[in-house]
Amino acid sequence: MIDQKVVISNDLHTDLQTFLSGMKYDKVFILTDTNTYEKCYPVVKDIPVLKEAPVITIQAGDTYKNIDQLSAIWLRLSNEGATRNSLLVNLGGGMITDIGGFAGATFKRGLRTVNIPTTLMASVDAAVGGKTGINFNGLKNEIGSFYAPACVFIDCEFLRTLDRDNILSGYAEMIKHALISSMETYLSVMLFDLDQQMDYSFLNKLVAQSVAVKERIVAEDPREQGIRKALNFGHTIGHAYESLSFRKNMPLLHGHAVAAGLVSELYLSHKRCGFPMDQLRQVVQYIKEYYPAFVFDCKDYEDLYELMTHDKKNEGGIINFTLLAKVGEVHINQEVSKELILESLDFYRENFGV
Ligand code: GLY
Repeated sequence: MIDQKVVISNDLHTDLQTFLSGMKYDKVFILTDTNTYEKCYPVVKDIPVLKEAPVITIQAGDTYKNIDQLSAIWLRLSNEGATRNSLLVNLGGGMITDIGGFAGATFKRGLRTVNIPTTLMASVDAAVGGKTGINFNGLKNEIGSFYAPACVFIDCEFLRTLDRDNILSGYAEMIKHALISSMETYLSVMLFDLDQQMDYSFLNKLVAQSVAVKERIVAEDPREQGIRKALNFGHTIGHAYESLSFRKNMPLLHGHAVAAGLVSELYLSHKRCGFPMDQLRQVVQYIKEYYPAFVFDCKDYEDLYELMTHDKKNEGGIINFTLLAKVGEVHINQEVSKELILESLDFYRENFGV
């Protein structure tokens, strides 16, 4: 049911030209934000199939992933004669692939989209798998749909332009993919040196491996009825950390919050499902080495718990976790006592000295 092609491209120019030439469409549009218009659009603008394409540019940043900007995209498509046979190329990070994917899903009940992720987070996660949407009513991704792009082109050259924080942010999702997949993947990700002189060509290999994990899971369960919840490992508590960081006016990047969430949820995995302590310690050590600590205290616990009650995986008022018995052995729909959840927050603080 999900008909999505993912291309890890070493030659974006040729790959895009070949793919788009083989598609039938009446008009092609490009969606960028103010950053990707400046930094990434120049990379694709001379590709013959994209030369005449109108460019729709919206404000950069997740706070702009909203109904007003969505409406602005619809308006441009409508005013410039887009039809159901048109194509929308989303060039940007997760914000662009989410909102552009949703614009594509809804315009005239759906035109085809192509994603060209330009961040590590979007390459390994947001742009792949067909989740689209916008933030609404103060809640992240509150409105959206499952709508697979026709193709995702991942060109790791874009990663060289990212700052370190954004590399770390995307890498947290790669750690998650490794933990839910296999020991071999896990070891390759844990052994990668995320220092300043990063080996980009090896990172590209890890990206391909990580995307393959996600593709396999999404192919099995595109609409998150079951095993796709594995991709939410680390996110129940991670999203709560992220939301708290916004409330405290010290916003965490999504992946930094996920890294902290992985620490707490690995602790829950150890307590509830017997995840081995030595591997738990290894992941904690890795995250401690590279990621900044998220500072909170026990006065925040009730707020964090309340935030977890909004998680999309919850059913019947129960906070539903995805946990691991070991690397690659995922248990979805795990109920955990409030006491143990709060203990996992203690575990994070003890290990990160906050
Ligand atoms: N980001 C998790 C998923 O796509 O299911």
